[in-house]
Amino acid sequence: MDIAAQITARAARIEEKIRPFMPRQQGLQQTVLDAMDYSVFAGGKRLRPMLMEAAYELFGGEGEEIYPFMAAMEMIHTYSLVHDDLPAMDNDEYRRGKKTTHAVYGEAMAILAGDALLNYAYETVANELCRHPENEKLPKAFAVLASKAGIYGMIGGQVVDVESEKKAQTVDREKLDFIYRLKTSALIEASLKIGAILAGATEEEASLLEEAGTKLGLAFQIRDDILDVTGTLEILGKPIGSDGRNEKSTYVTFEGIEQAKKDVERLSAEAVSILEQCGGNHAFLKELFLFLINREK
Ligand code: IPE
Ligand code: IPE
Ligand code: MG
Ligand code: MG
Ligand code: MG
Repeated sequence: MDIAAQITARAARIEEKIRPFMPRQQGLQQTVLDAMDYSVFAGGKRLRPMLMEAAYELFGGEGEEIYPFMAAMEMIHTYSLVHDDLPAMDNDEYRRGKKTTHAVYGEAMAILAGDALLNYAYETVANELCRHPENEKLPKAFAVLASKAGIYGMIGGQVVDVESEKKAQTVDREKLDFIYRLKTSALIEASLKIGAILAGATEEEASLLEEAGTKLGLAFQIRDDILDVTGTLEILGKPIGSDGRNEKSTYVTFEGIEQAKKDVERLSAEAVSILEQCGGNHAFLKELFLFLINREK
């Protein structure tokens, strides 16, 4: 199977692993449950759970404990997208090839669905911790998940991203790197690191994968910026020109498309060479890292 087919097959399998962790569709709060389900199952590459599972496999992980974490990661990532698309933030109307959550359910319900996904992610992982109090790796992984999603991770990056819009604050390359490391790399770092921790990797190994995640995340966000200029709504599943409309300073506005493409390649190659310092069979992860360089969605 070529790498594109492997990725598609894995994404489909991951979706089925995530599904049982979603809340049951019943109760008077039905609308928010619908909105959560709509947002998570709208499509999406499932990249973060895919990285988590592959990191787990890299270090010989074989159990079921990874699944609640994969589900929680996708819930947190999805919540970040639902809120990112809100009128108060990027004000976008399409996501994952469908209308955004607020466009379908209204703003109030989209805010609540995002909150609910974040909270349910923690409920999911907390339940796993309660079921297996003897497993010391679970709270370690939980701490990584929580901190990388928070003010020192994704949320922190989104804060500075929003403040930098419309030149409200000057952005230099250093600030841009800070934004990307937090808003995008943090969840990718967490995915790889959690996979490593749950598989019983050493601290050094988990840190190496985290470092690879930093580089991969930067490359991923730069590619996202490029696609915001060169992509199409049909393939990307979200509007192009969103950054321009919001007067965002992006990697592309700083460096231009050609340099940005070169830097995606360089950062991805750096991520691969860090990955290669870890033992184990990293064939899939390496191919995945390289595949993302030229992704079209
Ligand atoms: C979009 O993430 C947000 C960024 C960090 C650029 P993805 O490109 O992974 O979005 P989905 O999950 O495939 O929809
Ligand atoms: C957002 O970056 C990253 C998040 C943490 C959601 P963007 O605003 O560029 O992501 P897209 O392009 O809307 O997916
Ligand atoms: Mg944004
Ligand atoms: Mg956006
Ligand atoms: Mg973008």
